[in-house]
Amino acid sequence: MNTPVVLIPGDGIGPEVTASVCEVLAAAGANIKWIEAHAGIPAVERFGDPLPKDTLDLIRRYRVALKGPCTTPVGKGFRSINVRLRKELDLYASVRPVCSLPGIPVPYSDVDLVVIRENTEGLYSGQEHMVVPGVVESLRIITRTAAERIVRYAFELARRQGRKRVTFCHKADVLPLSDGLFLKVAREVADEFPFVGFEEIHVDTLCMQLALDPSRYDVLVMENLFGDVLSDLCAGLVGGLGVVPGANIGSRYAVFEAVHGSAPDIAGKGLANPIALLRSAALLLEHIGQTRVAARVESAVRNTLQTGQGLTQDLGGTGNTASITAELIRNL
Ligand code: NAI
Repeated sequence: MNTPVVLIPGDGIGPEVTASVCEVLAAAGANIKWIEAHAGIPAVERFGDPLPKDTLDLIRRYRVALKGPCTTPVGKGFRSINVRLRKELDLYASVRPVCSLPGIPVPYSDVDLVVIRENTEGLYSGQEHMVVPGVVESLRIITRTAAERIVRYAFELARRQGRKRVTFCHKADVLPLSDGLFLKVAREVADEFPFVGFEEIHVDTLCMQLALDPSRYDVLVMENLFGDVLSDLCAGLVGGLGVVPGANIGSRYAVFEAVHGSAPDIAGKGLANPIALLRSAALLLEHIGQTRVAARVESAVRNTLQTGQGLTQDLGGTGNTASITAELIRNL
């Protein structure tokens, strides 16, 4: 039986990479029935809203979505679609697995970690105001509830994946109330998982340690802003946003998406690299229980990178979306 999954092609290179991913998944034998929904510029043109209610309703109905990148129109009064999606569906955990891949020239070959970022509050709570002209205040919200569920999510993931240690990243020395609370909660949750290691580290020290030796980290968990920065830093350790998958998970819904943007500079030229979205789709397959197909897709990605045939220009090749898609299918 095919599982219904909402497909949001997005805009820019979104439709090109989603078409490629659908082709590879079909060839891999994924049992999915795509339910197409709109977001981004096409949705603004059709419905006057980059994230229409119908799209949200479809995700609420089918629970799982694969999303292509969407442009955030600048200066037109639209809030980021991604921030809205996370808030509306309470997708509280951003999950980004980062592991070394073959054929990509980077300084490290033994990275295997997961960055888990609290997605709903912190400095991205959207609460900013002008106190007096020339003075602006942005509120950094930390609640016990959100802190507890994200740290628990990190430990549960570590347990599920047989990982050894959760590292909690903070700045409680200069933010004693907000990060102090987060740290206290993290320690309490860690006590419930004595069989998983727990470590605390300041965010600045963590950045330095990641640059020196990323192989010593396993599961990293942190608040929203630190997570935004650290997850891109970690993606850079293994080859950048073109190869790293992402997922936004809540207790009811899950949206899987590549972490790169809509790449307007190459949109419509057939040059986009679909690997980040394809690997996000592999996470989706695992999420809906199609683990064998997920493993097949992941191994096709590795073989394709290893052989270096048909790769797009961002990966150092001379190919395009069509050539890399054909190569991925050949390597399934
Ligand atoms: P971007 O990630 O779209 O592009 C940065 C650079 O990476 C560009 O040179 C682009 O050509 C290249 N690139 C990105 N993805 C690629 C791929 N799959 N294959 C080959 N090359 C790729 O970041 P930028 O330019 O800052 O953002 C463009 C738009 O995307 C903005 O409106 C931004 O708000 C939006 N955006 C959307 C995201 C999402 O929907 N998840 C995430 C990040 C940005």
